[in-house]
Amino acid sequence: MSIQTVAVVGSGFMGSGIAQVCAQSGFPVCLVDIDEQRLAHAQKSIRWSVEKLVSKGVVADAVDEVLGRVSTARHLEAAAEADLAIEAVYEQIALKQEVFAQLHHLCKAEAILASNTSTIPIAKLAQATKRPDRVIGMHFFGPVPLMRLLEITPNPRTDEAVTQSIVDFAYAVGKNPILVRQDIPGFLMNRIFGAMACEAIRLVERGAGSIEEIDQGMCDGFNMRVGPLCIADLAGLDISLNAFNVMHGLDPEYLPKAPALLERLVREGHLGAKSGQGFYIWDENGKRRGPAF
Ligand SMILES: NC(=O)c1ccc[n+]([C@@H]2O[C@H](COP(=O)([O-])OP(=O)(O)OC[C@H]3O[C@@H](n4cnc5c(N)ncnc54)[C@H](O)[C@@H]3O)[C@@H](O)[C@H]2O)c1
Repeated sequence: MSIQTVAVVGSGFMGSGIAQVCAQSGFPVCLVDIDEQRLAHAQKSIRWSVEKLVSKGVVADAVDEVLGRVSTARHLEAAAEADLAIEAVYEQIALKQEVFAQLHHLCKAEAILASNTSTIPIAKLAQATKRPDRVIGMHFFGPVPLMRLLEITPNPRTDEAVTQSIVDFAYAVGKNPILVRQDIPGFLMNRIFGAMACEAIRLVERGAGSIEEIDQGMCDGFNMRVGPLCIADLAGLDISLNAFNVMHGLDPEYLPKAPALLERLVREGHLGAKSGQGFYIWDENGKRRGPAF
């Protein structure tokens, strides 16, 4: 099935970025959020980002042409006509299942329902619908307009033609897709990153290495552009903690429990770049200023 129109549910950091790359690639996209302020903020940030990309020559279309492809709505009914609906609401299983149940009732029978979840097996979301064969994981990486990777996870019942449509769509929106061949919590990338970040945090916790030196070591030794503790700060320590908790909860024997230091930082309100402090101190312009401890 060829995908012509897209709906994105949830207009936060990820949803707004997903809507932007769809619009930049010529797809009309409806961005749906229950929160009007989040929608207004998403429209502003999409404009800001598209203007930048157009001025650098990365996006060929005029700014207004791209923005003209993005409509917004506060009700899921607006997703009814989409060929592809991509869910990007908070990382909570019950909330996502509720959205999938509604999308199943509202969207046309042939529409593909996708989730941008970072940790939840797709089968758990597919079971909220009566079309598991048309449900699939599309895990974008943030900031979506800049990051090339898209992890695609079919659930065991996903139709092969649906997976192929999503692979084709990934290329059409300028992403490099990788296929996750087992529908496991955290897929491929977050399991690998989670193991690395967990160990980095535990090493800081026991005093075996400093924040800056561990991050610097990962950059110099493994060619990473930014170290794992900095990435955790940028993603948000509350988001990282939630990811650890969801993954550990779903696969406790294999995936590590969240480190106590991460739990303490979140409890104390140190959420990383967005709160001004996490493993590092961050200024109001989002610039990193030295380690926090
Ligand atoms: N932040 C990241 O770096 C990142 C990376 C990859 C994947 N993800 C995943 O993407 C998803 C979204 O993350 P985010 O960082 O964009 O979150 P966010 O908090 O920035 O945005 C979530 C949005 O969902 C909206 N929402 C909540 N309930 C809704 C409903 N019933 N209907 C419509 N909208 C609703 C909220 O109003 C909010 O605007 C999560 O599943 C997360 O795990 C996040």
